Amino acid sequence: MTKLRVGLLFGGRSGEHEVSIKSAKAIFSAFAAEENASKYDVVPFYIQKDGAWQAGEIAQQVITSGQALQNLAASPNLWQLPPQAAEIDVWFPILHGPNGEDGTIQGLLTLMQVPYVGSGVLGSAAGMDKIAMKDVFAQAGIPQVKYMAVTRSQIWSNACIFPKLCDEIETNLGYPCFVKPANLGSSVGIAKVRDRRELETALDNAASYDRRIIIEAGVVAREVECAVLGNDSPKASIVGEITYSSDFYDYETKYTEGKADLLMPAPLPEAIVSQIQELALKAFIAINASGLSRVDFFYVEATGEIFINEINTLPGFTATSMYPQLWSHTGVSFPQLVDQLVQFAIERHSTPN
Ligand SMILES: Nc1ncnc2c1ncn2[C@@H]1O[C@H](COP(=O)(O)OP(=O)(O)O)[C@@H](O)[C@H]1O
Ligand SMILES: [Mg+2]
Repeated sequence: MTKLRVGLLFGGRSGEHEVSIKSAKAIFSAFAAEENASKYDVVPFYIQKDGAWQAGEIAQQVITSGQALQNLAASPNLWQLPPQAAEIDVWFPILHGPNGEDGTIQGLLTLMQVPYVGSGVLGSAAGMDKIAMKDVFAQAGIPQVKYMAVTRSQIWSNACIFPKLCDEIETNLGYPCFVKPANLGSSVGIAKVRDRRELETALDNAASYDRRIIIEAGVVAREVECAVLGNDSPKASIVGEITYSSDFYDYETKYTEGKADLLMPAPLPEAIVSQIQELALKAFIAINASGLSRVDFFYVEATGEIFINEINTLPGFTATSMYPQLWSHTGVSFPQLVDQLVQFAIERHSTPN
């Protein structure tokens, strides 16, 4: 049997470069396991922080060490792909955040006319931009907290407009509220604000990251997540929960070992679990996702309310990440998961839009 050549694309121009390397390392091992080894040849492609692509020994070295290489020479030809790219049968991009999860790399792979794992341009872009995502969810009738979208130019406007903007946020959303750049991830630039002074500082700070900013009413809730797998008839996994003792699930809590715990399955009433699974599938379909997504929710225990927080179309995929763990608790092992994702990529490519 001829083996399928899988191009594993990782690293990338985003704040989540290091997480991507860890995800790729875990995926690379999963392709070497069990029956996958006889079906697939994996070719690693490392996208440096400056955007240049590396294949061959350098990419292999990054995968093996699990760490970014320092002092790599900047490439004068960002648009020039390594020659190995021409021989890839299926791409597996595992790039998180901007320039990877947002439709940019998906556009390039679409132009190359080769199947790739995960969502296409629309699903990726809609899932990445928190304002576009929430507008789509609102249209689809998926419950979420109240939010407002503002632009950098409104925030950095003259001294007359800015106070009015803050008044409007206070009236519509109250405190505490969350200020977020529309397009980042990993909680970067996100602030929980409790008064006018904090609101002003947070808006100014978020505007330094992005042209578009979202402000959401704060909710006191448990954080639960559901994994989705498939194309036109996607399946939902069991529901997991994240617990932590910090004020919210900020960058430090996410990436400092021992600061957060994953509970699998989340201790929840069965009816709540089915509602979350149903909403996860609805969200996946609403943004036109394919292959995989992790959908995150707030569960307000006191009232039984469920609000969607966000969808991640290329979620963290390390050995200890929520997405593969949710599937392994649902009965799909890590190696089976990567195998299925490749098969879904081929299926999606073979059916016209
Ligand atoms: N509206 C909200 N109410 C309560 N907590 C929130 C709200 N929005 C965000 N948070 C907290 O901030 C964290 C990060 O926000 P999120 O929108 O998920 O950003 P990211 O895309 O960077 O993960 C959440 O996991 C949660 O702990
Ligand atoms: Mg999040």
